[in-house]
Amino acid sequence: MDHLKSQLDTTISRLKASSNLKEIQDIKVSYLGKSGAITQEMRKLSDLPNDQKKDFATNLNILKTKLTDALDSASERVSKEEVEKKLRSESIDISLPTRDSKQGKVHLISHTMDEITEIFGNMGFGIEYGPEIEDDFHNFDALNIAPDHPARQLHDTFYMQNDGELLRTHTSTVQILTMSTSTPPFKFISPGRVYRCDSDQTHTPMFHQVEGVYIDHNIDMGHLKGCLKEFLYNFFEGQDIKIRFRPHFFPFTEPSAEVDISMGESGKWLEVLGCGMVHPNVLKQVDVDPSEYQGFAFGMGVERLAMLKHGISDLRTFFEGNVNWSEKHGIDFYRIPKIIWGLGK
Ligand code: PHE
Repeated sequence: MDHLKSQLDTTISRLKASSNLKEIQDIKVSYLGKSGAITQEMRKLSDLPNDQKKDFATNLNILKTKLTDALDSASERVSKEEVEKKLRSESIDISLPTRDSKQGKVHLISHTMDEITEIFGNMGFGIEYGPEIEDDFHNFDALNIAPDHPARQLHDTFYMQNDGELLRTHTSTVQILTMSTSTPPFKFISPGRVYRCDSDQTHTPMFHQVEGVYIDHNIDMGHLKGCLKEFLYNFFEGQDIKIRFRPHFFPFTEPSAEVDISMGESGKWLEVLGCGMVHPNVLKQVDVDPSEYQGFAFGMGVERLAMLKHGISDLRTFFEGNVNWSEKHGIDFYRIPKIIWGLGK
């Protein structure tokens, strides 16, 4: 017992100095565990003569209480220290600059559509949308496209399983939808996805167009040219471009033209949009009197415009979902154009 007593004094000073929960636990086991010093001492009790038992037990209990008090306060102190240490090491300095984290970007196509919308918005065009699943009437018939027109053939159009349904092949469907549900004058653009069964370096089965319509009493070809030139010079922001209007044919416009762009000294022309004066047959289809109203329409390829502006040579890369590509060609959020809406149609 005396030996235990003197040993315990050193143990208690060790506990006071300890900063390690494991060490405290080991000490506890070495005294109070199954073969611990105090437990073993306790076993001696039964062999003692009766008159010594009481003193022995009392003394041993005093030692045991001393030890458990020291164990408790040591483990409480060390747990607290550990929590504080952890809190200190995990403290967050909110004034530090961010680490090299990746930020998402706006896809170049979305951005280009926003830019186009902004420019036309500033010219007073409103915005209209239409469904991507359409019917023959909106995609062809009402646009003066005869049933035997080659564009109707299966190699161009994706037909749905449901009879009469198709994926729109151009945004001109929105001309019909908007004009037949409202009254002139009309002045709107319509951005959206279109689908054609075609795939190579300059064609993908899905691509984007922005349609434009301006119908009023005296809108003529001069307005059309002026409007598109104004748009293109704005869109290409001072880049060295040449614009060419080339006579063309569309069933829904008469006369019709295609617009080509040539960049810098390359001498190569790339077609970027189709346009023309809305055909009287189309106006009749939507109950607009062609002797009272006339105007122009255009449809531009968003990918083509983005490719030219940003020097991208393969259309398919827009849709591969390659993160490196998106990082290189994507647009930071703070560069999203602010769309200023004009008076609309
Ligand atoms: N819809 C035509 C196309 O997809 C473009 C166009 C629109 C042409 C409006 C004239 C007027 O090619």
